[in-house]
Amino acid sequence: MTGADLKIGPPLQGLIGRPAGSVTGYPYSPASRASSFIWTEAKLDAFLASPQSVIPGNRMIAPRITNPEQRADLVFFLSKVTRPPLLEGLSSASE
Ligand code: HEM
Repeated sequence: MTGADLKIGPPLQGLIGRPAGSVTGYPYSPASRASSFIWTEAKLDAFLASPQSVIPGNRMIAPRITNPEQRADLVFFLSKVTRPPLLEGLSSASE
């Protein structure tokens, strides 16, 4: 599956550490494509609190998460589940 198959939002696999707006084939808004930072946990926290403050003009229609504890929980969860397997080729064999 490529980013182009996904219509709602970009794939978040590998999010932490990759440049914003950078999944090949995903039809980002010009604003997201032009953003020039790397996703860190702090950036993700700020984005979830106020997407338009971090990437003005982005097209993500989602409610702001105003509760800092809820954001911290979500950022922690996402930082784990979006992390690529360390041993890509061996991960299916070991599961
Ligand atoms: C808690 C839930 C969500 C999280 C954690 C999340 C996270 C993100 C992140 C990190 C990006 C930037 C990805 C990148 O730079 O590659 C993004 C973009 C985007 N998300 Fe979300 N998102 C959420 C909910 C939603 C919902 C509910 C929708 C739509 C109904 C949505 C639609 C989009 C779209 C369309 C983009 C691309 C924006 C653009 O091109 O300007 N997201 N999301």
